[in-house]
Amino acid sequence: MLSEDKRSVYIHVPFCKTICSYCDFCKFYVNEKWIDEYLETLNNEIDDRYMDEQIKTIYIGGGTPSALPNESLLKLVEIIKKFRKDENIEFTFECNLSDINEKLITTLVNNGVNRLSIGIQSFDKNNLKFLNREADYEDAKNKIDLCRSLGVNNINVDLIYAIPEQTLASLRKDLKLMCSLNVNHISTYSLMIENNTMLSHKNVSPIDDMLDAKMYKLICSYLKRQGFKHYEVSNFAKEGYESKHNLVYWNNEEYYGFGPGASGYLDGVRYDNTRSLTSYTKGNIILNKEILGPKEKMDYEIMLGFRKTNGINVREFYEKYHVNIQSKYNIEELLENEDLIYKDGNLFINPDKLYVMNEVLLKLL
Ligand SMILES: C[S@@+](CC[C@H](N)C(=O)[O-])C[C@H]1O[C@@H](n2cnc3c(N)ncnc32)[C@H](O)[C@@H]1O
Ligand code: SF4
Repeated sequence: MLSEDKRSVYIHVPFCKTICSYCDFCKFYVNEKWIDEYLETLNNEIDDRYMDEQIKTIYIGGGTPSALPNESLLKLVEIIKKFRKDENIEFTFECNLSDINEKLITTLVNNGVNRLSIGIQSFDKNNLKFLNREADYEDAKNKIDLCRSLGVNNINVDLIYAIPEQTLASLRKDLKLMCSLNVNHISTYSLMIENNTMLSHKNVSPIDDMLDAKMYKLICSYLKRQGFKHYEVSNFAKEGYESKHNLVYWNNEEYYGFGPGASGYLDGVRYDNTRSLTSYTKGNIILNKEILGPKEKMDYEIMLGFRKTNGINVREFYEKYHVNIQSKYNIEELLENEDLIYKDGNLFINPDKLYVMNEVLLKLL
């Protein structure tokens, strides 16, 4: 890494007030003693690893960062002051609707947060019951208006679809309501039944693939009509509001990951932190490391880059790896059967095949 290069920071806050039925992320019930120990370790972890370069994006995710009690939140923002921030930094904080109030948002804005990500998922009461979550449209509208009035004008909401019993009509209603919230970005997720979740314990099955595909197509066409740009397989943004932080991941750039359950990519090494809060607070932080050679770096570039709808720029790939992408990967065959498209120097997955992106990637790698 050159000394003038900037990096990004992800911080995982592993605490939630309630646990959702589908969630396999690293999270624990809010507990003040654990939060104190977590913050102390986080502080040390950053001191040990941060190399003092400028930071271009910060993403505080979870878990539910907004679930921290006010005193702990103030400690967290104090820790974050260590980072030398780029003047155009994108600084995102994940919030739960029920935690949003004037005091929280004012504290965040006063400490540099300029983007919020709110996990709404759905407004349908059957879906919410199934997901073990709460959300109310009027409440969401008021809270998002409040955030805007307090100076946050870059807001994402998360939506989950492919929920058992969900219909195309109920998904369309969710899309309509989410669009009317006046948000700049929508992240969509097809429900995954992960191991060790309430859903897997109840033996819930995923919905039929054909219906899932129809739902994906509905999301893409609906959001396009509402003026959102489909810039990544499951992410949609108003012009100029693509997530700079997530683009760091998809552009295969390096970033710090701090906190239990976080992953990072530094000096050609990908690493995962432990998901155990006990190990973490004892200082046994990194669980595994993957040292990447040139081939692995290129494979990651392919796997991540093709998530973007504008794919990979052939010249930039050459400048980064000194290798022609066509000479290392099975590009010609995929162009012939229209899995891939080449246009204006970019190679990208045929939009009609984005839904089966993993199959296309398998043919490539
Ligand atoms: C880990 S969560 C963090 C955000 C916040 N804790 C919340 O739930 O609102 C990030 C997003 O991943 C998505 N997600 C998590 N688990 C999922 C699953 N099993 N299937 C589909 N989407 C999931 C949800 O949309 C969620 O908002
Ligand atoms: S989905 Fe979000 S709020 Fe729900 S348990 Fe997981 S991290 Fe916590």
